[in-house]
Amino acid sequence: MHVHVALCALIALAPLVVTYAYECPEDRKQADSNEKRLQKDLLCSYQTDFRPVVNHTQAVNVKVRFALKYIAFDQQEEVFTIHSWVAMSWKDEFLSWTPSDYGNIEEIQLGSHEIWTPELALFNADASSYQSESFYTTCLVKKDGVVMCVPHLAHSGICSTRLRYWPYDTQKCTLYFGSWMHTGEQVNFTFYQEMPVILDEYQPGPGWKLLDVKNVRLPGNYSCCPNNTYPMLKYTFKLQREAAGPAAIVVVPSLVIVSMTLTSLLLDVKDNTRLVLACFSLFGHFIFLTEIGYDIPKHSADTPVVLLFLRDSMLVTLGAVILTLGLMALRRRTEPPPAWLKNIHLRITTGPARYVVFTEFDPADSKPLTENDLNEDSSRIRSDWMQVANVINSVIFLVTFLIYLILLFSYIL
Ligand SMILES: *[C@@H]1O[C@H](CO)[C@@H](O)[C@H](O)[C@H]1NC(C)=O
Ligand SMILES: *[C@@H]1O[C@H](CO)[C@@H](O)[C@H](O)[C@H]1NC(C)=O
Ligand SMILES: *[C@@H]1O[C@H](CO)[C@@H](O)[C@H](O)[C@H]1NC(C)=O
Ligand SMILES: *[C@@H]1O[C@H](CO)[C@@H](O)[C@H](O)[C@H]1NC(C)=O
Repeated sequence: MHVHVALCALIALAPLVVTYAYECPEDRKQADSNEKRLQKDLLCSYQTDFRPVVNHTQAVNVKVRFALKYIAFDQQEEVFTIHSWVAMSWKDEFLSWTPSDYGNIEEIQLGSHEIWTPELALFNADASSYQSESFYTTCLVKKDGVVMCVPHLAHSGICSTRLRYWPYDTQKCTLYFGSWMHTGEQVNFTFYQEMPVILDEYQPGPGWKLLDVKNVRLPGNYSCCPNNTYPMLKYTFKLQREAAGPAAIVVVPSLVIVSMTLTSLLLDVKDNTRLVLACFSLFGHFIFLTEIGYDIPKHSADTPVVLLFLRDSMLVTLGAVILTLGLMALRRRTEPPPAWLKNIHLRITTGPARYVVFTEFDPADSKPLTENDLNEDSSRIRSDWMQVANVINSVIFLVTFLIYLILLFSYIL
């Protein structure tokens, strides 16, 4: 019983026993240096939650400068990210001192969490990833209360893409910065007078070249609130796609398969190579359509011209395959061509149009057939059909060529 009481008392008192006043050893004690004294004096009654102005009707003017380090553009998600050192400078009326009182210290470093800092919010932020508006860094404070913080920040904004001229496209991405909860009469964001954007240490991101950066301050007057302004800092980034890769993968091969389709139409109908070439070209179209489908955002505001061109070219190639099969069937016909067809054929081959009929399907080629068991008549019929096929093919080739020219001009111009 006694043992229990003693144990309980010990357990209850244990926390009291452990806490004892810690005394710094005498020989470890430091004298207050001027810097330490200054920091203590500046921060002893400092309130980090309130704007650093004595008169609340005064605005805190915050100057902003972006030193751009890196940009990344995820075109599938339409998210544009900049990594930069953001220099911000303002005057804190509670952080000034007389240097002679503190051994002529002219400036001091304070943690950003110890003083008031402006919250620079990105208005068109990509809200799917958390982005804090406050930052954590060390700030430089001058004797007259001018504070300068240069946090390293990443901002991700929404940027919708225009892909009509993919992969030779340029994109414009705009980021809007301002204060989320303060009016321009409370926290007034402005640019540094000289060099509001610095690109000296900029390092290009993958796949994109930065052409230029424009910055404009929007005054933010709205008719609803004549006594307040909501200023915004607007940065417009112009980006150009590094096109060599996509061009090598898609654009140049597209032109190759288009020329394959055209070449197949120039070949002899009797030659099986013609059908093989046309079919191979058709297959190539499917491959490149799939390849582009992987590469570009499918829900972009406008469809790339390359995609539309390939789609139309695929239809033309399908036409070439069907035509080739049709002409092959025509060659094997045994009844003579109808009179009107012969008539048209005669007109074409004697008129000025004969200069555009260039594919010569040599009628002599059908001789091996006649040598077997077919009579002269049959041979003549075949030769007639051959000439008709020849004319049709020439016309189709010209039409196809024209279609490709029209497609090219309508899409590119
Ligand atoms: C604050 O500033 C305004 C305008 O600058 C002035 O009219 C007002 O008297 C000032 N108030 C105080 C308490 O100094
Ligand atoms: C904010 O800054 C701009 C540019 O320096 C200045 O023109 C404007 O008067 C300022 N606004 C306020 C409310 O101080
Ligand atoms: C915006 O408002 C200020 C005063 O608040 C005025 O001086 C200025 O002319 C206005 N600007 C525009 C574009 O309305
Ligand atoms: C703007 O300020 C004026 C003068 O102080 C005042 O009469 C008016 O009601 C204010 N307007 C708004 C919308 O607050």
